Amino acid sequence: MSEPLILGIESTCDETGVALVRGRELLADVTATSMDEYARYGGIIPEIASRAHLEQFLPTLNAALDAADVTLDDVDAIACAAGPGLIGSLTVGTAAAKALAVGRNLPIYGVNHVIGHIAVDELVNGPFPERFVALVVSGGHSSLLSVTSIADGVTELGSTLDDAAGEAFDKVGRLLDLPYPGGPHIDRLSKEGDRNAIRFPRALSNAKDAERYRYDFSFSGLKTAVARHVEAIEDAGEELPVADIAASFSEAVNDVLTRKALEAASSLGATTLVIGGGFSANSRLRELAQERASEYGLTVRIPPIRYCTDNGAMIAALGSALVRAGLPPSPLDFPNDSGMDLSTTYMAP
Ligand code: KG4
Ligand code: ZN
Repeated sequence: MSEPLILGIESTCDETGVALVRGRELLADVTATSMDEYARYGGIIPEIASRAHLEQFLPTLNAALDAADVTLDDVDAIACAAGPGLIGSLTVGTAAAKALAVGRNLPIYGVNHVIGHIAVDELVNGPFPERFVALVVSGGHSSLLSVTSIADGVTELGSTLDDAAGEAFDKVGRLLDLPYPGGPHIDRLSKEGDRNAIRFPRALSNAKDAERYRYDFSFSGLKTAVARHVEAIEDAGEELPVADIAASFSEAVNDVLTRKALEAASSLGATTLVIGGGFSANSRLRELAQERASEYGLTVRIPPIRYCTDNGAMIAALGSALVRAGLPPSPLDFPNDSGMDLSTTYMAP
């Protein structure tokens, strides 16, 4: 008998994602985004995002079903993101998912979006090892996790004390007058710059912090250091070396992220580090993690870029892992949780 068919629904931010997964096989993954509407505001407007989810939900669902060549009759369980995320966006997606669950009499799992960023890796790189360390880096999160089961064995080792990596990139993007979101633009510019041009601070990395904040991050002081640097150059009336600033800033972020993540995996005796989340699309993070992994004798797994930014496949992948683990579905009245804890993989009964 074939494995259950899971319908995954993502709506935590600006992407409406719908995907179909059977076991660890991705059958279809369709994403619509309202990101283009935010360039002129310099940030996401939650009300616009919620309305876009409402408009995009049915067309995206139908496109995913068509692409997988299945109908709703074939679906065995529904997984939708219950948090963390924008409450309006979440509400549209979970309401739609619950309506489908009731109408079709299907079990529903309200899953953790951030854990989904890691779960999706199984669809491309195969089953996870028995234990591993995960680094989730996105616009809202920068966390290190210890994982014994993606379904129900996730513990948070540490996280950012202030800005997330993607958030820091977006803020520095604004400082450098780059379009929103700044992350991908800084990434592109970094490739033309000298990453050793400016020595920006590496927070929580010295011996004093090593004990207390061993697996934590902080990027807000770094952002301020970049702002001061930019001000000083502008005050001197000199031309801003944008590519060098981007490359040096990017290096400071990725140096700390990769070192702490590999240290964590190594000291916990894990052989594998899995990296996920929107920021893991960053080219220097991918390069540096692979480069340093060999020094530590560790394997690094990072999904291809299209599965790093928000999508339905990550939600379906986590739903599928929950079903495989034999975990009971969420109660139909499960809440949306904009601040969902990272050790909560889904809204369990
Ligand atoms: O996971 P995600 O799609 O949404 C959240 O759940 O937050 O992550 C979006 C974040 C944004 O901050 C965006 O600027 C950043 O990921 N990002 C990048 C790159 N691509 C996306 N940051 C740096 N380099 C990139 N190539
Ligand atoms: Zn995300």
